[in-house]
Amino acid sequence: GAAVEVDISTLKPGEKITVEWRGKPVWIVRRTPEQLAALPKIDPELADPKSERHPEQFTPPYARNEWRSIKPEVFVAIGICTHLGCSPSDKFTPGAQPSLPNDWLGGWLCPCHGSTFDLAGRVFKNKPAPDNLEIPPHMYLSDTRLLIG
Ligand code: FES
Repeated sequence: GAAVEVDISTLKPGEKITVEWRGKPVWIVRRTPEQLAALPKIDPELADPKSERHPEQFTPPYARNEWRSIKPEVFVAIGICTHLGCSPSDKFTPGAQPSLPNDWLGGWLCPCHGSTFDLAGRVFKNKPAPDNLEIPPHMYLSDTRLLIG
């Protein structure tokens, strides 16, 4: 499939955009410093915090780090649950989920069977999804242009 070029120059901290690649939704999120700082603290609650399950399938070598990304702040992932393929809902947009506690630091909830993922796409323990969200092949063409695929 054709690679997709994305301009992320207007993506603000805490925002997410979705582009389509090979018929799949690809999420691009600019994480805030607070969200990044929270990632290591979440490790004990995760099923596979270091993405060691099936790394060749879900996490390219350049994303095998705490943030699962090339640049710490910019997260790129395929927005499809690794359980049975539903698309998880955003839980991180400030103000979009008024029922959440104020200290909620982001992530996703799969509406189908309740798997939850942190802001690095890592699945929480005791959830049906067997793997972290897939990171698609991608690279930077410049500071603000991403190539997916
Ligand atoms: Fe996401 Fe089942 S498809 S939890």
